[in-house]
Formats: sequence, structure tokens, C-alpha cells
Amino acid sequence: MRSIFLLLFLLTVADAQRSSEFRICAFNLHHYGDSKSRKSDVMLTLARIITRCDVCLLQEVRDSKGTAVPQLLQTIKRYDSTSSYQHVSSERLGRSESYQEQYVFIYRTETVTVTDLYQYPDDLKGDEDAFSREPFVVRFKAPRTGQVSGLSGLPYRGLFLCFLIESNVFSVIKEFVLIPQHTTPSNTTKELDALYDVLQRVKKMWRTENVMLLGDFNADCGYLAKKNRKNVRLITDKNLYWLIPDDSDTTVKLSTSCSYDRIVVNGETFNSAVVPSSAQPFNFQQEYGLTEEQALDVSDHYPVEVLLKVVRSRSFAGGASRSSSVCVFGTLLFLLQVFM
Ligand SMILES: *[C@@H]1O[C@H](CO)[C@@H](O)[C@H](O)[C@H]1NC(C)=O
Repeated sequence: MRSIFLLLFLLTVADAQRSSEFRICAFNLHHYGDSKSRKSDVMLTLARIITRCDVCLLQEVRDSKGTAVPQLLQTIKRYDSTSSYQHVSSERLGRSESYQEQYVFIYRTETVTVTDLYQYPDDLKGDEDAFSREPFVVRFKAPRTGQVSGLSGLPYRGLFLCFLIESNVFSVIKEFVLIPQHTTPSNTTKELDALYDVLQRVKKMWRTENVMLLGDFNADCGYLAKKNRKNVRLITDKNLYWLIPDDSDTTVKLSTSCSYDRIVVNGETFNSAVVPSSAQPFNFQQEYGLTEEQALDVSDHYPVEVLLKVVRSRSFAGGASRSSSVCVFGTLLFLLQVFM
């Protein structure tokens, strides 16, 4: 008798525990504009790369005619018709009229929604105009992301998870903020340090610790000297986790090896919601069997990416009622098993 209950209980647990991952990416598209958007092979590769991600930050979007981004979205929709994608874009940003870039976030609407936007005004007293491309800060809601590791030691954790998810107690992450930055190479040290001020403001404004900074920081090789690192608060603050290692290579060219593109996570809670060691450059050249030249047509950078842990119960895929009944059923079995 007991073993039947146990078996049924385990099946219930399995239902609640099915999990997968949530991928956040940052990609410097290297002069993405009209001419690149006309190359169909490049566009296909971009679509393949971007649709791997639940949220993808694009940088160096130089779409002066305003046609290249819609073109990309169309290609993405054609490439992956099983999901739906939306985007939010910053204004064109830059100190000179002749050179401007946009930040663009493309996200999968089944897994994530945008809840707030904040174009950093770069108005900090005593340090006005610190950035040439001011962060376009976006707040996201992703109900499936969460931190499960702390529960792994408990018995019957499936049941606990089931209830925590259902009752919304289990909201460790769910919402997070992305602060993008493509630094100016010659001002990397200064801009990285100023990002720390942006982080403080965003944390206060939205009362959240779940903040990630990401993008082409130019944080390596000739642009960030070793001796200057101690002056960069974004590096010295022990509460910030630099997830892409210094010895990574985020550049496509065989002749260069620099860890320019980075992902930095604020706080222990958010850091523990990250899948350990999942942050890495995505070598699309190797992955898709391209030549160096073909890869360079796409970009001179690899995207960087990181996975967040995901709790996936049926309640998110279908209606909540089914999952609730599973929870109730599981609990009854559990109680029967304990008291019989
Ligand atoms: C570097 O920063 C300074 C001050 O923030 C600014 O005046 C200068 O134009 C910047 N250089 C570039 C190349 O943007």
C-alpha cells in the first residue's frame, strides 16, 4: 500500500519539478544597419543566435533609416514561428550627430515581459555626461525564473516547490533589471566606474537588488589597464559578480583574444539564481560551421550569455487549476502516506 502512495507521490513531484533554463544574452552586432540587413545569410545567422535567448541585448545598432531593426524582427519571426518576440529600443545615443547607436532588447513573450523602462539621463552632480551611450535600463518580469538550490536538501522538495510556486511565496527572482552598456574604448575605465552610480540609482528607484549589467564593456586588452582596475567600483565591490572570466575570448578574429563583453550580477540572491558556470561567449562560428570571414560578416564579437534557473510547473504552461489540483492530490497522498 505504502509503496503505491510513494510512487504516485513521486510522479506528482516529477510533474512539479520539470525544469529548464532561461537564457539572457548580450551581442554587439558591429555596425548593424541597412547594409547588413540586406545580407540574407547574415540575417539568418542573427535569427539563429537571437532565438536561442529569452532576452537578447543588441548593441551597435546603427539603423539610421529605421528599417534594419524591423527587418531583423521579421526574419526572427519567420525563423522561429513557434514563439513570439517583441522588442524595446532606446533612442539613438551618442555625443556626435554623425555617430549614434541604439540599444535594442529582443525578448520572447512566452517567458518574459517588460514592466518598466528608464533612459539614464547622465545627470549625476559633478559627473554629468559620463557616458557616450547612456544605459537604457529595462525591467523584466519572468515568472519562471527562481532560485531552487536552497531547497534541494529538503525531503519532498517537489511538494514544497509545488506549494511555494502556487502560493507565490517563491518569488526570489521573477523580476530583474538589465543595465546595458557599450563603452567607448578610450573611456572604458571611466564609464565602467560610472556604471556603478547607475546601479545605485536603479536599485533605489525600483527597490530591487536583482540587477544585471551587461554588454560590450571593452573590459580587457588595451582598453582596461590592470593598474586601473582598482579604481573601478564596478570591479572592486565584492557584492558584484563578474560572470564572464577575464581569460574568455569574446572576439571572432582568430588573431585577437580579449574578454570585452561581460555580464555582471548584483548581489548574492541574484547570483544564486544563475546556473553555475553557465556564463560564456557563444562561439557561433564553430557552432554553425562558418568560416572566419562568414562569421565576421555577422559581427566581430561573439554574444555572451548566462542561464537563470527555472522552475517550471504545469501552472505556467497551462492554467493554474491543473497544477493546483496536482498540489492538492500530492498533499493528500503525502498525508495518507504519513498517517497510514
Ligand atoms: C571621454 O569622456 C570625456 C568626459 O566624460 C568626454 O569629454 C570625451 O568626449 C570622451 N571621449 C570620447 C571619445 O567619447
